[in-house]
Parts: sequence; C-alpha cells; structure tokens
Amino acid sequence: MYWYHKETKHSYYSVRSNPNQMDWVLQPSTYKNYPNRFEKIELDKNNPWHGVIYYTASISTKKYYPHGTHRYLRVNPSAGALYPNELYFQARGVEGFKDAIYHYEVETNRATLLYALKETEGIEPYMGYETAMKGLLFLVSAVYYRSSWKYRNRAFRYCLLDAGHLLGSIEHAALLVPHTTNIKYDIERKKLNKLFGFSTGDTDGREVFLSGASVATALEKSVNAVQFELPYVDGSGTFEVNEMMELAYKQTSYLLEKTPQKTKANFYYEKTRLKESILERRSQRGFEGQAITKLHYTRIMEALNEPIASDCDEVVELFVVLNRVQNMPIGLYHNAKLLKNEDFSQRAGYLCLEQYSLGTQGAMTFFLLSTAKNYQALYQKAGIIGQRLYAVTSYLNIGCSGIGAYYDDEVNAFVEQEGMVLYALAIGR
Ligand SMILES: Cc1cc2nc3c(=O)[nH]c(=O)nc-3n(C[C@H](O)[C@H](O)[C@H](O)COP(=O)(O)O)c2cc1C
Repeated sequence: MYWYHKETKHSYYSVRSNPNQMDWVLQPSTYKNYPNRFEKIELDKNNPWHGVIYYTASISTKKYYPHGTHRYLRVNPSAGALYPNELYFQARGVEGFKDAIYHYEVETNRATLLYALKETEGIEPYMGYETAMKGLLFLVSAVYYRSSWKYRNRAFRYCLLDAGHLLGSIEHAALLVPHTTNIKYDIERKKLNKLFGFSTGDTDGREVFLSGASVATALEKSVNAVQFELPYVDGSGTFEVNEMMELAYKQTSYLLEKTPQKTKANFYYEKTRLKESILERRSQRGFEGQAITKLHYTRIMEALNEPIASDCDEVVELFVVLNRVQNMPIGLYHNAKLLKNEDFSQRAGYLCLEQYSLGTQGAMTFFLLSTAKNYQALYQKAGIIGQRLYAVTSYLNIGCSGIGAYYDDEVNAFVEQEGMVLYALAIGR
C-alpha cells in the first residue's frame, strides 16, 4: 500500500484523538482569476463548445446558511465545497474560441486567453499526442492548500477525487457536442507546471497539474510543443506548505507500467434532460429511507460499468451495500454478485464515519478499492466513477452524496479485501 495512503487513514480513534481544527483566518480563496490585462471571453452556454466548459465547472447555485452567509456551489461537486482544482484548456478549430490556450474563470464564467497559438504549435505533445487535435484539450490542476487548509494531510486524496469529478464532469458535458472523452494521466507534469508559471521560486508546488482530457479528434497535421511564459497567479490567497502532500505528488508524478483503455463509453442520455440534470445536481445531506427500483439499479450499474477511455486504466473494485432496492436481496455485492445476504445498513452508516443519514438511510452505499500502482491515475478514476454516479442519479431524480470520510481499515475488514479504500458514496431518497 502506498505510504501516503497508509499515513492518511481515518480510524475510530484517529478522528477522536486528532480532530480537524480549522484556522478561519487562513481560509483560502476558492477562485483563481488572472489579471484583467489578459483578454477575457464571456461564455455563452448556447454555443455548444462554450457549453462544454459551462456544463463542466460553472457555478450552478447560491446556497444560504442560517447565520446569514452564503456560498456558490458548482456543477461539479467537491469535498467540503473547497474546489481545489483549476481547469485549463486548449481550443483548436472550434466555433466560439480562437485557437488558443485558456483558463476557465469560474467566478465570472469567462475564459481567460492565456496564449494565442500559432498554427504549428500546441500542448498536444505534452499530453502524448503526435498530431494536432481539433476540439478541446483540458488540463486539470490542484491548488492544494484550498483543501489541506481543512483536511490536512488527507487532502491529497480529495484533490485527486475532486479532479476525477471534474474529469467525469467533462465526460458528461462532452456528450452535448457530442463527443467522447479520453482521459490522459501520462502528461508531462514537470514541463507543464513550468510552462504555466506554477514552478517559479518560492511558490513552486502550490499549484500542480494532475491530469488531462481530450474532447477532440486527431488531425493529420504535426504539431510542435508550444513554449510560452506565464506569470504565477495565486489561487488561494493564504498558504501553508504541506510537505507530505508535496512529496506524494512528486513521487506519483511519473507513471509506472500502464495499460490504456481504448474502448469508449456508451451512455444513453437525452440532451435536454442531461443539461437540466447537470445544473440541478446537488449532494443530498441525508436520505429519508425510501427505496429505489430495480430498473434504477440496473441503469445506475450500467453507467458505472461503462469503460473509461484513458492512457492508464487502473483497476478499481466496486463494492456495494444494498439497503433498499425493490425486488433485490439486501446485502453486500461485488461485481453484481451477492456476497452476503444480510442487513448491513447500520454497518454501512458506521463505516462512513458514522454518517448514518447517508450510509444507513440511503438505498445503496458504495465502497471503491484498489490495489493498483499508479496512485494519481487510480484515485482520479475513483472520482470519475463517483461523478458518473452523481450524473446518472441526478438524471433519474435520485439523491447522491460523495463520502470522503470513512474508517479505512474497517471498510477493508467489512469487504474482506486488502487494498486502498479510495472513496465511498451513498445514493437514495
Ligand atoms: C470527494 C468528495 C467527498 C465528499 N465527502 C462528503 C462527506 O464525507 N460527507 C458529506 O456530507 N458530503 C461529502 N461530499 C459532498 C460535498 O460536501 C459537496 O459536494 C459540496 O458541499 C458541494 O455541494 P454540491 O455537491 O451540492 O454541489 C463530498 C464530495 C466529494 C466530491
């Protein structure tokens, strides 16, 4: 098991002896905005290519809290609504964008033009492409302090899960163009971090690239690796170094042996409802103990089991506790096979750090595990699966919540499997 994962486990005792204490004075910003001397392009969600960005990461609601404060929530979910990830993209040959490299400014729903491309250059070579790609190429980074401010050492897990959610969000928004998405984990992180101004002097490591994705088709045209210089633009306001996370990032930045997945996913979503359900998606804070149908179950499992096309497809095992699905035996399942026919609803709630309103009251509780080696790739894949679950349940009007906090070793004991417990999620009504 990767040492970082081992060191950041939660247990019944760890959460009591070492509770998270937040220093509110240091609360980081969740937005990164380039200065106004950069050209900014207002996104029009009715333009299909602008829509891919809009339906991936825009603000979708304003949430009010009892003490008079509010917060903006987005299309993509994020642990603690801290949104550690930033989205960059290259547009080539698409309507509504000049051929250029952009940053998505979430706060204002604008694309900031960072660098206008000359015809023979692009970011393709940094992402493993040999020819120019027509469409959008994405890069996902993490401004890790946004998450480590609250979650301390465990935050690298959340940066990766949230990045996976963003990749999964791209996957669904791309269906509107329509296009399939290819995930790229084998990107030249070091060169890209330098190119985008992330690794300059004192600020080195505060923002780092984690992955890429393409919503594009190959052209028969060669392309050179683009070179430019960008200033470092701070994405958190406050900052405290986390050496454990920085080390984990560096150690996992070069991929070990990798197996690509070339088969593309096939989803059945009607466009108008998909758009609506993307904007309506929310995390449900608790369920009322109502069942879902077997048809829902089938539809959900189909969406989760579709392949995820990528350059490094790590195996992620899916264990599911069924609490309330009509006409289905309750119990623990693995790969659609019933392992134990028992009422585990209490146990599922307990394992999710005693979040009983989710794990116990829900219809199904998911646990994702892996024994694979490429930590950044396998963790982001768990996030993509999580996003598929949010997307399909939102489409079907079923509630969903990601659960990043669980008792790691006790989940292992429950499913009787070793390996890293990556994520839990609950769905229900
Ligand atoms: C990786 C991840 C872990 C999460 N963990 C929890 C959790 O343990 N408990 C919980 O109530 N919500 C959890 N959530 C839900 C977030 O709090 C939620 O996404 C965020 O507040 C934004 O709200 P929204 O999803 O409604 O947009 C998690 C979400 C993600 C993506």
